[in-house]
Amino acid sequence: MKGKILVTGGTGYIGSHTVVELLSVGYDVVIIDNLSNSDISVLDGIQKITGKRPTFVEGDCTDISILRSLFKANPGINGIINFAASKAVGESVEKPLMYYRNNLNTLINLLELMPEFGTKGIVFSSSCTVYGEPDTNPVTEDAPIKPATSPYGNTKQISEEIITDFIKSGAPVKSIILRYFNPVGAHPSALIGELPNGVPQNLIPYITQTAIGIRKELSVFGDDYNTPDGSCIRDFINVVDLAKAHVVAMERMLEDKSDDNIEIFNLGTGIGLSVLELIDVFQKATGVKIPYRIVGRRSGDIEKVWANPAKANNILGWKADTPIADTMLSAWNWQKYLKDLGK
Ligand code: WQD
Repeated sequence: MKGKILVTGGTGYIGSHTVVELLSVGYDVVIIDNLSNSDISVLDGIQKITGKRPTFVEGDCTDISILRSLFKANPGINGIINFAASKAVGESVEKPLMYYRNNLNTLINLLELMPEFGTKGIVFSSSCTVYGEPDTNPVTEDAPIKPATSPYGNTKQISEEIITDFIKSGAPVKSIILRYFNPVGAHPSALIGELPNGVPQNLIPYITQTAIGIRKELSVFGDDYNTPDGSCIRDFINVVDLAKAHVVAMERMLEDKSDDNIEIFNLGTGIGLSVLELIDVFQKATGVKIPYRIVGRRSGDIEKVWANPAKANNILGWKADTPIADTMLSAWNWQKYLKDLGK
């Protein structure tokens, strides 16, 4: 066994794909999830893909007594990958206290328990949202951190500071902070993928629900930006490529491959694609036409942001290289699988 990893939020979108990759290379995995934004059936998908079923604890990470019981019942947890967080930008504006309590208390509880149980490393799920509207693209890790444009984004910034301050205080733990750009797509098996609650807020699930007929048409939020085709530009990174980066980061900490106790990496492809370009890629890859209408801008949207992934490529030896057309096809196959399940 390579070690035992606690994955908080492990039945969620990125969490479940990361659990698959951890199990596939021989880690034992314990998941804790309160199922507020995911479905327990994801465990079946993980088991079908890997042939292994992770230990699952239903619980809320904001309750330290639940977490302490988990650590006692599952001795020898070497590392944590923390996905458990609320992540809807718009919702965070309406319910800021819920976001600060959930996202920050979860992290503080985990950090507090690590020394108590000899857990060595924590990978933190952060976001390119900490950069706000970057001054230049592609974005490197030393780009300035801009004032957050939402409580969600602020929890990511504050979380990074909490981790940094805790490690600077001399705590015997390490951390790797991963700043995701835009995670998209689904596992090639089409057995796990993104499961948005209600009306999707993110672009790809809205596209695939439009493609399958759940939604009448896609609204494109603005084509009057200062970009070649007027629509916003993003760095769309395949979720399996993203998941693999978490395994590399965990191994880097557990095998003491770095002298630094805290490192930060941008996880992106390094390729900026506009919303309209992505719609075109999806249509060409799947042969399915997406009806869309240009509407007004969505407040809080960043005009253009894409990664310079050189640090992760060179230091982690990791690269997001799945072709975007394959990624769009994976998202479409997952949406068709959900339809077969009657979802
Ligand atoms: C992408 C582009 C929209 C929906 C956010 C968070 C980030 C991460 C991912 C959690 C934008 C446009 C979207 C639609 C559209 N959060 N769009 N019509 O806002 O870049 O990133 O979600 O993990 O931290 O900031 O992602 O997919 O919502 O939007 O035109 O129906 O697609 O305007 O330009 P975003 P997104």
